[in-house]
Amino acid sequence: MDDIKCICVGLVSGGFETIGSTASLIFAQLCTENGELWQERLYDDLMKIYDGDIVKAYQSVLLEEKSEFGVSFIRELLRMYAVIPLIPARKTSKEFIWNGVTVPEGITVILNAQAANHDKSHFGADADEFVPDRFLKDDSVNHPPYHFTFGAGSRACTAVNLSNRILYAGLCRTCLLFKVKKDPSRLPVVDYIDFAEDRQAQTNWIKEFGMSLEPRDEAMVEMCFSVSKNACKEDLSYSIEYN
Ligand code: HEM
Ligand SMILES: *[C@@H]1O[C@H](CO)[C@@H](O)[C@H](O)[C@H]1NC(C)=O
Repeated sequence: MDDIKCICVGLVSGGFETIGSTASLIFAQLCTENGELWQERLYDDLMKIYDGDIVKAYQSVLLEEKSEFGVSFIRELLRMYAVIPLIPARKTSKEFIWNGVTVPEGITVILNAQAANHDKSHFGADADEFVPDRFLKDDSVNHPPYHFTFGAGSRACTAVNLSNRILYAGLCRTCLLFKVKKDPSRLPVVDYIDFAEDRQAQTNWIKEFGMSLEPRDEAMVEMCFSVSKNACKEDLSYSIEYN
């Protein structure tokens, strides 16, 4: 059974539900006690970077990752939640020495990304907490691969950069246009293990929770959505304007 799961994760479904499940966790974190503060911090940061121009910010977050807080938030989210907790089994292709131990060729290695991501000797005593500016304020952890949610090494996820960008753009666009409001009667479970609806699943999804989106400015929402629609219609090339 575990073998079958490993093959499915490794070959079929690199991108299967991973973005969706991680994106849902963005909203869950924005519905926590500090969620409102983080939304305003990101909003203010983007307004500063893009001179208060919402449409320009809305377009640009798809093309560049200028908000250091936004980048750190997504990095921390991926560290906190290894939605594929056990990385598919891989075999070593050559002998190597690691921490004084010789690892022979042909050995099966299974990386427990969830455990590695919460290693207190590396991330510190607050490793189990979600600290969105962790990678901003702690240089000792702010280096590749940052966390093990994409795996590591030559067989790591090929879509790391694409995934980071999609999640960053989703977070920024949400906070630019909306206030994410929690539903006090259906709060999300944000514990990095207990959040999972079904821990047998190939990709872990968060248990259902309640929330709503309140437009910051309805006319601006309409404007940005029509910008997106037209960009798709033309040739996805509104980037040219800003490069
Ligand atoms: C948050 C989003 C994602 C996560 C957490 C994720 C996670 C992973 C993991 C854990 C692996 C196995 C890595 C290893 O064995 O070391 C993997 C492999 C892979 N992923 Fe992703 N992935 C994500 C998004 C995507 C997307 C969007 C795509 C495609 C568009 C994709 C394509 C692939 C491919 C092709 C592989 C196989 C690489 C290989 O076998 O050499 N992934 N991913
Ligand atoms: C992702 O981007 C970094 C920084 O530009 C680059 O060094 C790395 O090779 C990229 N990774 C992949 C898998 O394309």
